[in-house]
Amino acid sequence: MKILVTGGAGYIGSHTCVELLEKGFEVVVADNFSNSCEESIKRVEKITGKTLTLYNCDVRDRDMMDKIFTEHKIDAVIHFAGLKAVGESCVKPIEYYDNNLYSTLVLVETMKKFGCKNIVFSSSATVYGDPEVLPLTETCKVGGTTNPYGTSKLMQERILSDLFLADNTWTVTLLRYFNPIGAHESGLIGEDPQGIPNNLAPFIAKVAVGIYNEVGVFGNDYDTPDGTGVRDYIHVVDLAKGHVAAIEKITTPGVHIYNLGTGVGYSVLDVINAFSKACGHQIPYSIKPRRPGDIASSYANCDKAYHDLGWKAELDLDDMCKSMWKWQSGNPKGYNK
Ligand code: NAD
Ligand code: UFG
Repeated sequence: MKILVTGGAGYIGSHTCVELLEKGFEVVVADNFSNSCEESIKRVEKITGKTLTLYNCDVRDRDMMDKIFTEHKIDAVIHFAGLKAVGESCVKPIEYYDNNLYSTLVLVETMKKFGCKNIVFSSSATVYGDPEVLPLTETCKVGGTTNPYGTSKLMQERILSDLFLADNTWTVTLLRYFNPIGAHESGLIGEDPQGIPNNLAPFIAKVAVGIYNEVGVFGNDYDTPDGTGVRDYIHVVDLAKGHVAAIEKITTPGVHIYNLGTGVGYSVLDVINAFSKACGHQIPYSIKPRRPGDIASSYANCDKAYHDLGWKAELDLDDMCKSMWKWQSGNPKGYNK
């Protein structure tokens, strides 16, 4: 089976390419390298000892998408390509809506033209807004997003669901990721944020290698066990395997929605302590004001993914931190050596 992976050079995409190649899938990647570089693909090939086909192109480029589908008989698409920084999306809403929505529209138009009707989409726990109940199940209310990034994810879910309503031969799988962290056990691929990391785990990793002095903990007065924000961190390799499980189940048309998390919530201090253990020294931190737009707690119920896909997360917070440390310490400047 041949899978087109848009955004395959990125953090989650590169880990998913490894899992797909190791399971014997043929992989074609389309990425414009707006937030990644070709080196990640070279390392995917090094880890697996297999090659994939790479197109340096924007998913919004209709001619290039036509070329890819003409040159390959694509069986299914995993659509990672998109912009993902919450704060930046508030400053550049047009760029976010243009990139995220238009890429999805051009992609599904091309898929339809070439008769490929299987898509797995990267959605996010952000579509649930501020949860009314925990743990979150797929039937919980969506909406109440507080930034253009999150709203673009909701809109893309809607576009893909409408596609199925209009033509019920499509198989649309919406994967709602919780908080992916960690890296491949080889230490060769991992998260490589450009500039100052927005997210907790990559920031801790950069404090650990001395790039920043301390972690700012955004609030310790939430209604959580230690007062800091609680999230459902999931190892990126488990997440990547969730995509393979979804691809293996594309035989049933419909709109299939799955939470991908571990079902366990950890606080900011839990993550700092686990990372300190993994890197062998205490990560310094100080308490800062709450970050606007943050919620207290978010964690998933992932029973549906286990029931339907036979998938569940296997790796724990220590595994996440150990692998992240191996990647960060071996590549302090990311892919730029
Ligand atoms: P990433 O930025 O590392 O990967 C995205 C990739 O898409 C990059 O390689 C980028 O160059 C590429 N890209 C962006 N726009 C493109 C376009 N128009 N055409 C071609 N390529 C394009 O991000 P990631 O963390 O790997 O996230 C992958 C997907 O998962 C995104 O859609 C993101 O919104 C979603 N997601 C991520 C998280 C997270 O915490 N990392 C959580 C929930 C959902
Ligand atoms: N945090 C800090 N200090 C930091 C960064 C974060 O204390 O320097 C705290 C936050 O306040 C929050 C927790 O760490 O309590 C996690 O924050 P992240 O920024 O790592 O993750 P979020 O849960 O805010 O959001 C991430 C992605 C979203 C995605 C969501 C669910 O940024 O795009 O996970 O998948 F939608």
